[in-house]
Amino acid sequence: MYVCNCNGIRERDACAAIESGAKRPAEVFRRCQATPRCVKCVPDIRRMIEQVEQSLLYAAE
Ligand code: FES
Repeated sequence: MYVCNCNGIRERDACAAIESGAKRPAEVFRRCQATPRCVKCVPDIRRMIEQVEQSLLYAAE
């Protein structure tokens, strides 16, 4: 499933970018070698960042 249709960024690619340290949507684009276009995906990417950060926090406990 794609999180960014403009750039063909899949959910798993965005997750990998976040797990390797991307803290903002712009960093996810950069790590996926993509450029923001319509930016409709930015709220979804922000949610993914929050979810991954939460799951990493729980995993660390
Ligand atoms: S859907 Fe991601 S930039 Fe358009």
